[in-house]
Amino acid sequence: MLSRSSSSPRWTGFFLVFLSLCSLFVPAVSVKHENFKTCAQSGFCKRNRQFADDVTSSSAWTSPYNIDPATISFSKGQLNAVVLKTVKDGEDKVRLPLTVTFLESGTARVTLDEEKRQKGDIQLRGDSKVRKERYNEASQWALVGGLEVSEGAALSEKAEDGFTKVFYGEGGKHQALIRHSPFSIDFQRDGETQVKFNDRGLLNLEHWRAKKEKPVEEKKEGEEENKEEKKEEEAEKGEDESTWWDETFGGNTDTKPRGPEAVALDISFPGYEHVFGIPEHATSLSLKTTRGGEGNYNEPYRLYNADVFEYEMDSPMTLYGAIPLMQAHRKGSTVGVFWLNAAETWVDVTKSKTSANPLSLGTKSRTDTETHWISESGLLDVFVFLGPTPQDLNRQYGELTGFTQLPQSFAIAYHQCRWNYVSDDDVKDVDRKFDKFNIPYDVIWLDIEYTHEKKYFTWDPLTFINPTKMGKQLEKSIRKLVVIIDPHIKNTDSYPVIDELKKKDLAVKNKEGNQYEGWCWPGSSMWIDCFNPAAITWWKTLFKYDSFKGTLSNTFIWNDMNEPSVFNGPETTMPKDNVHFGGWEHRDVHNINGMTFHNATYQALLERKKGEVRRPFALTRSFYSGSQRVGAMWTGDNLAEWSHLEASLPMVLNQGISGFPFAGADVGGFFGNPSKELLTRWYQAGIYYPFFRGHAHIDTRRREPYIAGSPYTEIMTQALRLRYQLLPAWYTAFHEAATTGAPIIRPNYWVHPEDEAGFAIDDQLYIGSTGLLAKPVTKEGADSVSVYLADSQPYYDYFDFTTYQGAGHHHTVPAPLEKIPLLMQGGHVIPRRDRPRRSSGLMKFDPFTLVVVLDSAGNANGTLYLDDGETFEYEQGAFIHRRFSFSAKHASLTSTNLGGRATTKTDKYLKTMANVRVEKVIVVGAPSAWQHKTSVTVMEEGAKESARRKQVDFEFFPADGKKAAWAVVRDPRVAIGKGWKIDFSDKSGGGDHGHQH
Ligand SMILES: *[C@@H]1O[C@H](CO)[C@@H](O)[C@H](O)[C@H]1NC(C)=O
Repeated sequence: MLSRSSSSPRWTGFFLVFLSLCSLFVPAVSVKHENFKTCAQSGFCKRNRQFADDVTSSSAWTSPYNIDPATISFSKGQLNAVVLKTVKDGEDKVRLPLTVTFLESGTARVTLDEEKRQKGDIQLRGDSKVRKERYNEASQWALVGGLEVSEGAALSEKAEDGFTKVFYGEGGKHQALIRHSPFSIDFQRDGETQVKFNDRGLLNLEHWRAKKEKPVEEKKEGEEENKEEKKEEEAEKGEDESTWWDETFGGNTDTKPRGPEAVALDISFPGYEHVFGIPEHATSLSLKTTRGGEGNYNEPYRLYNADVFEYEMDSPMTLYGAIPLMQAHRKGSTVGVFWLNAAETWVDVTKSKTSANPLSLGTKSRTDTETHWISESGLLDVFVFLGPTPQDLNRQYGELTGFTQLPQSFAIAYHQCRWNYVSDDDVKDVDRKFDKFNIPYDVIWLDIEYTHEKKYFTWDPLTFINPTKMGKQLEKSIRKLVVIIDPHIKNTDSYPVIDELKKKDLAVKNKEGNQYEGWCWPGSSMWIDCFNPAAITWWKTLFKYDSFKGTLSNTFIWNDMNEPSVFNGPETTMPKDNVHFGGWEHRDVHNINGMTFHNATYQALLERKKGEVRRPFALTRSFYSGSQRVGAMWTGDNLAEWSHLEASLPMVLNQGISGFPFAGADVGGFFGNPSKELLTRWYQAGIYYPFFRGHAHIDTRRREPYIAGSPYTEIMTQALRLRYQLLPAWYTAFHEAATTGAPIIRPNYWVHPEDEAGFAIDDQLYIGSTGLLAKPVTKEGADSVSVYLADSQPYYDYFDFTTYQGAGHHHTVPAPLEKIPLLMQGGHVIPRRDRPRRSSGLMKFDPFTLVVVLDSAGNANGTLYLDDGETFEYEQGAFIHRRFSFSAKHASLTSTNLGGRATTKTDKYLKTMANVRVEKVIVVGAPSAWQHKTSVTVMEEGAKESARRKQVDFEFFPADGKKAAWAVVRDPRVAIGKGWKIDFSDKSGGGDHGHQH
């Protein structure tokens, strides 16, 4: 949360009156553009965009980067060489060490460094003590695996003059065609080029150079003339030095002890019309182009984590987090690049009609997408993924940066937040009201006002008098508390936390080497530097139960403001010439900063108490590649407007395909007061966010779901119950994300990668592999939605089984306020728990309902993953993982084990679940042959002989107009953790079909 306008409660009343006066005129809230740079205001971006324009407009251009063939060597899956950059003004050629590494996964990695800086052979300006190398540690924070080199990668035996060719990937299907002069690389799969580096000649690695001090201009007279001369001089040199040595924005001057050091490269995707990824932006899933034209942007996508207050829709502006992963998609192929750089980065996207012979294109589109990546500092370090499917791409990226942490089960239920629940009594009251209205929720949250004067790890002594008692009340319904802890530490007297931070010297430094002091919620503050291992060690001590008193084992943590947000800093963040542990400038590490703090909190939660190891829950606002390993994110400070509800869907979908799927937007909108209709629709959409939290600004009216009254409260309650009913399906989807990198909610192209008409669709979503297809209402006054179906399977309305069928068409689905448009694709088995409870914890031993949704051939499949939802014992086998299959041929539904060999932990866990059964099986699209059936035969493994085969009641409901026939098996009483079979055949009751394992 954030507001510069009225953080002090004293002003709230006044502000509310003021607001209500303003609302007569409908105040337009909007982002303060002047606070954030455009590309033209960011020196290195401007230089590189200008460079691109110059190159594009010159017909005689050749890139000045050439591989020196004598330097090429290849061994153990890695090619090494030196790229020589020819510099105009006659300096020696600049030597740039190149590596191209071929990984076992079929991914290639290209790095380009600068020899002079590598060797520390440069002079820093001023008396700066920062490191001389280009920043080369991003991989240490972002990567956790996937770096095994390919044993099979080999140089091509047929040497072509001027090229080096390497075969790699499974069966040598991938090929890197490295051109020496000018240097470029084509990455090919099955003989076709998929990704090109430096095809347009925009590679630009700004090498180190000494500043040539110009003689001070004394002449006052004839100044005009002088300026003209200078301009001419610059034009001749072709380089504009004005932003090389320092740069001022919004009154802050950034000194650059290493001078200009940007890295930039063009990356093209021939035959690919769509590119996705590079969150976080409030934009469509399929990225628009950025060089102007009708409906497109004029600015590149920016990645520079920042606290963007009241951010605007449909914009390439930067937001709170950055994942520099882009994927390109066409029919039959998904490829991608991961630009591993933590500095400020801009990405231009353009599209052009393909120049290749259209007859030879096959499945390729006629459009090429070209991208231009520009970072302020650091190595050039890029991974190239060759798919070929979206599933492959997410797995390959996940192997490098890690998969989603499997959260505790409460964390995927509903979270109730506002800035602020003002006292422990207030919290207890809200908790009781949820119960009174029978509305489920799992977690209540406290924003910054719970602290004593914004000193984290303390409680306000007047308002939070007995936090322990509050926590215990929550515990009674197995509910949790989340409290906010931010990275800025109040710089004040008599606060042990700041004393220790200073004494142990663990804060970020300013350029002079002193502990940096800036302004945030508490006023004067310092920032913990989590790049320092000692800082993490110290941070852990603050969360121990005897240190953070008043917190219990059901307390978890929210990290906000970790971009970091600095109210008086340039672009509301830290000066780039601040210095972190290891001597790196903030410029180098900015986009990783938030992740290191979030990780420190995660580590701290792991170790609150000896012997009590539970999965942490920590929410972050700022993130980078790898943040998925340690928690959830939300999309920051949105507005209570329909447009923000609408934008949340592509944003959350984009998080999913970009490797950080545990994501959500503030339900209801953070700023402003949603109408009852908007709030209700937002709950109906929010149930599809993997991270599902209602939140509101301090100046808004209370809006807990029980406040709106009839019929809104009932409708929101129904939405919440639907989320709770489907929690087993959600948890299974999280498990899939945690083991394969698959998104939790999935856009159309990901599920139907061959369906070109659906590639850009980003307003409907699939939940995991369940076949559940949701299309949230995001328009005021709507009473229907239009759902696009990509395939020819029947889709059934979740509630009344109305059938929709027809590939490649939009279908109108009724959606009056009380109706949630949700369809089930034929071919799936969906696990649910149908008993409404107050919290997910209370559902732990509830029985299951299985919804079997038959496809057009009469078959269906689905999975269920289940564990204790709390500890790490699942890592040692303490889980249930089942496959449910309905076969038309055998007319039976079976449950088989996907869990592999049982361990003692498995047995122990299964024992706790022994009495958890399937209480109902619903078959949707039931064959009419079943209409006279009254019972089915149920067989369970390991049951006593007498109980092994039993007849169970069965009821058939014939089709009714568009509503499909369905059937229900009442209480088959089979254990969820066991193998079993339900026989629907006519012979059911005769013949032994054996039991399943
Ligand atoms: C997270 O913390 C651990 C333990 O201190 C550390 O080893 C690791 O490098 C950290 N990772 C990130 C991304 O900060």
